Amino acid sequence: MRMSFATMLVAAALTCTTASAQQASVKVTVAANGTGPRIDRNIFGQFAENLGTGIYEGVWVGENSPIPNVRGMRTDVVTALKALKVPSVRWPGGCFADEYHWRDGVGPRAKRAVTVNGSWGNALEKNDFGTDEFFDFIRQIGSNAYISVNMGSGSVKEAADWMAYMTADPRTTAGAERAANGHREPYAVKFLGIGNESWSCGGAYTPDYYVDEMKRYARFVRNLNLKQNGTDNPAGGSVAGSDPMQRIAVGPGGPGTEYTEAVMRAWKGHDWAWNIEGLSMHNYTWVAWPPSYASTGFGEREYATLVKDTLKMEDMIRIHSAVMDKYDPDKKVPLVIDEWGVWLKKLPGSRDGFLHQQNSIRDAIVASINLNMFTRHADRVRMTAIAQMVNVLQAMILTDGPKMVLTPTYHLFKMYVPFQDATRLPISFDAGTYRFGDVVLPRVDAIAARGKDGKLWIALTNVDPNQPARIAARIDGIRARAASGTVLTADRVDAINSYDAPDAVSPRPISARVDAGQVSVTLPPKSVTVLSIAG
Ligand code: AHR
Repeated sequence: MRMSFATMLVAAALTCTTASAQQASVKVTVAANGTGPRIDRNIFGQFAENLGTGIYEGVWVGENSPIPNVRGMRTDVVTALKALKVPSVRWPGGCFADEYHWRDGVGPRAKRAVTVNGSWGNALEKNDFGTDEFFDFIRQIGSNAYISVNMGSGSVKEAADWMAYMTADPRTTAGAERAANGHREPYAVKFLGIGNESWSCGGAYTPDYYVDEMKRYARFVRNLNLKQNGTDNPAGGSVAGSDPMQRIAVGPGGPGTEYTEAVMRAWKGHDWAWNIEGLSMHNYTWVAWPPSYASTGFGEREYATLVKDTLKMEDMIRIHSAVMDKYDPDKKVPLVIDEWGVWLKKLPGSRDGFLHQQNSIRDAIVASINLNMFTRHADRVRMTAIAQMVNVLQAMILTDGPKMVLTPTYHLFKMYVPFQDATRLPISFDAGTYRFGDVVLPRVDAIAARGKDGKLWIALTNVDPNQPARIAARIDGIRARAASGTVLTADRVDAINSYDAPDAVSPRPISARVDAGQVSVTLPPKSVTVLSIAG
């Protein structure tokens, strides 16, 4: 379902100006003394599936690789990801999760099962990167685990056994096995995904069948890490100050509300024996299925059309939030958008099923628009995961043998780090319009927040690929004295970072003037700017 332009503007709480007014400054007002919901840092999460070269080559090269690594994880990738302060990594899938059998990936590597990744290109899966490697990886980058258990070809018992391996005390048989594999302390599983796209690749379940199964997983797949739970009752419950695991149920992958209704109705009626603490939603930007848009060598039409397509996220959030509100008006259950991003045609010469694409300034702009939408719905959207972290779809990082390049989307995520766990502030502005043929879009987008560091932060996106946007920002509640920041932009809509020119699209300082408390900055065409304002 597409929203009309009028709906889109109302949805984003923006006001259009006439085309002639576009040349004037865009007036922005920020209530620095206002308040809003917390922008949960989990909104900036990542997804890493055993798919293509997302894990193998992208993260895992093995201890004997000539590529510098720590216990098999490539050092360049780990170093880059650390800087993003990735709050959580979802693994092992995706569709792959529903055919993943955890036992294939534990114990001495030489003895691990070699299987076939039937979901993704029938690639050989040597299972070198299994549970213990995953936890080593997220520790190296300083992140948290979001484990998706197999609800398609697995069983409740298999998932419960996996959780026991990960979380049980070393005095238990499962915990002793983990300890024998070198990891005495139980791992912390912060998020548990109960299935993946169970309406499709995860088993093609009807909503009612899914809900019945979900209850069994929610009841019996227990987190046995007593320290994390803060309780000595492994059946559930928590004590103040603890950080218990959140269970995330499968939700929608389109505007249809059948799964949302079924899961939320069940949640409302749940008793002491089971619960869920999140509803998943998947929504990609691809214009139409199968994805036919190129990731390189495209023009303004493809730029404008793709940016327009990404705005359907706003519809998706509104449609499903409305159903959630019906059952959960207090917004206890977060909407977890654990697959989103730009899904384009695979790069010529890359393998079928590996979903390998380049990443341009257009994708960074799309990411900014999505992150802004998430923050505007921060009371309900409290976790997301972009698909995917390395070498797959809208990746942060691309690798080729020993070479690595940071994408424009990587830089955008880094620029948005100050918004992690920040308090959203009220902001209003005239968006204006950008037109290309019959594609009409809001020209400017913006969010503001008070960071955990106490600073005032503003993110400003200029969607127009041809015209700069002059911003005049009034900051109510403080007397702005200085503003500084960075801008991500490029000369062409399809500009990318390549191994030969890795810094073609990278953040540069931008100058902003402060006069009588008003901040003035000129946003270059097709750009994202993040400013910090000192009062
Ligand atoms: O991210 C690629 C795939 O997209 C995931 O495996 C699946 O859940 C979705 O359809």
